[in-house]
Amino acid sequence: MEFPFDVDALLPERITVLDQHLRPPARRPGTTTPARVDLQQQIMTIVDELGKASAKAQHLPAPITSASRMQSNRHVMYVLKDTSARPAGKGAIVGFLKVGYKKLFVLDDREAHNEVEPLCILDFYIHESLQRHGHGRELFQYMLQKERVEPHQLAIDRPSQKLLKFLNKHYNLETTVPQVNNFVIFEGFFAHQHPPARKLPPKRAEGDIKPYSSSDREFLKVAVEPPWPLNRAPRRATPPAHPPPRSSSLGNSPERGPLRPFVPEQELLRSLRLCPPHPTARLLLATDPGGSPAQRRRTR
Ligand code: ACO
Repeated sequence: MEFPFDVDALLPERITVLDQHLRPPARRPGTTTPARVDLQQQIMTIVDELGKASAKAQHLPAPITSASRMQSNRHVMYVLKDTSARPAGKGAIVGFLKVGYKKLFVLDDREAHNEVEPLCILDFYIHESLQRHGHGRELFQYMLQKERVEPHQLAIDRPSQKLLKFLNKHYNLETTVPQVNNFVIFEGFFAHQHPPARKLPPKRAEGDIKPYSSSDREFLKVAVEPPWPLNRAPRRATPPAHPPPRSSSLGNSPERGPLRPFVPEQELLRSLRLCPPHPTARLLLATDPGGSPAQRRRTR
């Protein structure tokens, strides 16, 4: 992946670690140094472009990685640059791996809920022209060392088939522990403590437990609508520009209209009950010749 600026000078190391500050790394001695703000802008451009390419590769409707999302989360991004090819002497980016700690409720093999905060694989992308050349493994291996984790301690946010195959091939991760959220964990996950880990009583009612994950991919879901008839839209919805997210739990309605503020049904009924009838309506009801008292009551 090429950029109009000198990636090679911007990222001196083969693998660069970026956090929420998106700070440009120190440059090699002797390299001309543009203004720091320009360098940060270049880093942000790289992050945004990588996020877009990853979303495209995974057929996601929107990127889950961007400079602004990096700045507002405590995620860590490992960026791999190409040291061999130097198109026009500017270097290129091979791909990235994004990880972050997340509080999750996960089920163990006895279906008990556990509150854990494991390191999660959130986004992973290697440029199409360079996949299956070992670059993914190089990045992953580097991340494992830096973060001091074992592969089976990780939780994976909605992995693609390619990633599942990758984990199986390189780390023998195959048997998953079934979950009801979007995260995948593998056998051996519970062999280690995940600080802060807390086992919840197995009998606790389902409703007491907060919806499981704060998956990075959650925001891709379409907001939940109120039931009919409160959801009736004044005009036909235009078809979405992108396909729905991979594992969206919502059905698609052909009549789905633009989203409007949601008024809880009970609240609406209460306000209708409190609303006194209009004087004209009162007059009509009083003079309606055909309506039985019961019908009148229904109408009111
Ligand atoms: N089909 C099937 N398996 C694949 C494929 C593919 N197209 N590409 C990689 N793999 C798996 C295989 O196990 C492969 O081994 P094999 O070639 O012997 O079959 C192995 O990965 C290759 O390992 P690497 O070369 O180290 O991996 P690579 O550099 O290709 O990076 C990655 C793996 C990141 C999954 C890459 O294929 C990619 O970017 N895919 C598209 C985006 C994607 O699916 N990202 C994961 C999203 S889910 C998430 O991020 C939580």
